Amino acid sequence: MRAGEDLAQIRINTGISVIVPTYREAENIPHLLAELDRLRRDYDLTLEVLFMDDDSRDGSVEAVAASGFDWARIIVRTRDRGLSPAVLDGFRAARHPVLVCMDCDLSHPVDAIPQMILGLASGQQFAIGSRYVPGGSTDDDWGLFRWLNSAIATWLARPLTKVRDPMSGFFALRKADFDAARGLNPVGYKIALELIVKCGMENVGEVPIDFSDRRFGESKLTLKEQLKYIQHLRRLYLFRFANAMYLLQFLVVGASGVVVNLAVLSGLQLAGLAPWICLAGGIGVSLVTNFLLNRRFTFSYARGRHAGRQFVGFVGASMVGLAVNYAVALWLSHKILTGAYGLQVSAMIGVAAGMIFNFLGNRYIVFRKRYVRD
Ligand code: GDD
Repeated sequence: MRAGEDLAQIRINTGISVIVPTYREAENIPHLLAELDRLRRDYDLTLEVLFMDDDSRDGSVEAVAASGFDWARIIVRTRDRGLSPAVLDGFRAARHPVLVCMDCDLSHPVDAIPQMILGLASGQQFAIGSRYVPGGSTDDDWGLFRWLNSAIATWLARPLTKVRDPMSGFFALRKADFDAARGLNPVGYKIALELIVKCGMENVGEVPIDFSDRRFGESKLTLKEQLKYIQHLRRLYLFRFANAMYLLQFLVVGASGVVVNLAVLSGLQLAGLAPWICLAGGIGVSLVTNFLLNRRFTFSYARGRHAGRQFVGFVGASMVGLAVNYAVALWLSHKILTGAYGLQVSAMIGVAAGMIFNFLGNRYIVFRKRYVRD
């Protein structure tokens, strides 16, 4: 079966909405429209193009109007600015069952679109233009910094998806899948990564593309946008590996509590106090610091709730863990670890034994989720 025949089949049942986020791209709009028009005629596509513009006021509106294409529209947005929200708004406004997202700056080759559509027609849930599969490439003049930047960003996303180039802003999916998606709240640029993770896209096709640097205008990818990627990654990790992430953060806070615990009990020991008082003092102080840190970081989604009540709950829920902690540490220090630093080592083992009880009590009782903000 020839590619053209497949595509013609799709055209009968469906059309394609190409969503292009724009900010100050007036210079590029006529060139991209010319390319898309060529594609439209070559494949006899039913096509609409939506420029989602964040109030550029640079002649973008006029550029779309001047094209005279009745299949091209520009939507000027004045609220909730940013690349990702603009794309999501475009997807909502789209009229056709297949959605394509691409940049306006001609860095994404329109000729890859038919292959993406064929991928979806053959059962893929998501098709992405990829620089990092055989046949794909980036411009030769990418400096070391840009290359490293892209490589690190991609590597950080590796546990979230096997897709080789999830940083790409060139992709296609079905509108029905997008409409069914819940809880999308991307920050920054990586809208494809958001969709792949939140929609649980398993069957993702990567279409090799030659990514070329923009010829006109400037990239809007500032350092601030790049830092937002870290925030975005944290959200996605929490989404994908919720309990592992909570446990990890809880353990890090717990580790800080160990330091506090040891410092306090060592100080009390130096002051000549009895071992049971040293242990109790260490536990008491680390309890407070652990609460504050867990409330601020580990279970930050519950920060809006009453802190006093949470602290009472934290203490209550931690009692079982503390009892285990204290009993184990006391027993070890009396019976087994009676030598030098025996008290400190006993305390650490006690902390580890009690930690699991603390975590479960806090995660599922004190800081249980009522709604998801992150
Ligand atoms: N509406 C809107 N609002 N559009 C925006 C905004 C914004 O705040 N910021 C950027 N855009 C548009 C640009 O006008 C362009 O069409 C597209 O989003 C990509 O922005 P660029 O600033 O050109 O991004 P880039 O070239 O640095 O990044 C490219 O490579 C990344 C991977 O390295 C893009 O393809 C990204 O999508 C991709 O993730």
